[in-house]
Amino acid sequence: MSRKILVLNGPNLNLLGTREPEIYGAETLDDVEAACAALAAELSLTLDFQQSNHEGQLVTWIQEARGTADAIVINPAAYTHTSVAILDALSVFDGPVIEVHISNIHRRESFRHHSYVSARADGVIAGCGTHGYLLALRQIAHMLG
Ligand code: DQA
Repeated sequence: MSRKILVLNGPNLNLLGTREPEIYGAETLDDVEAACAALAAELSLTLDFQQSNHEGQLVTWIQEARGTADAIVINPAAYTHTSVAILDALSVFDGPVIEVHISNIHRRESFRHHSYVSARADGVIAGCGTHGYLLALRQIAHMLG
């Protein structure tokens, strides 16, 4: 049976590839989606890959995932460090949640060291570049069994 995974990306991640490539790398978000789709097929996962610059849209997608998705992979981007609303939405989702950061947020400015989302995440992957999304999908497949 194919499991459905919601992959959410927060603000400015639509600019991947051109946005501070020395920090976030040269791959675009389309490249990341394609790599995730290829691995998902291998792992028999169905992907819903989304990006929004709006906190409320991310909250709505997380709410809609209740009953429609088996797990969530989320890179909340800057909302990681500010959003109680995203934490609250994730807290009423029952399945596994993996938080991904392309950069190592703990090696950067101190305001990036705290994540509201980590209080709900089952796992956190940071500093592995865009490969972190693939690691997250493998962990989800492992957790869903
Ligand atoms: C990020 C790290 C955040 O601090 C930053 O605001 C982002 C991207 C990452 O993937 O490394 O937009 O989540």
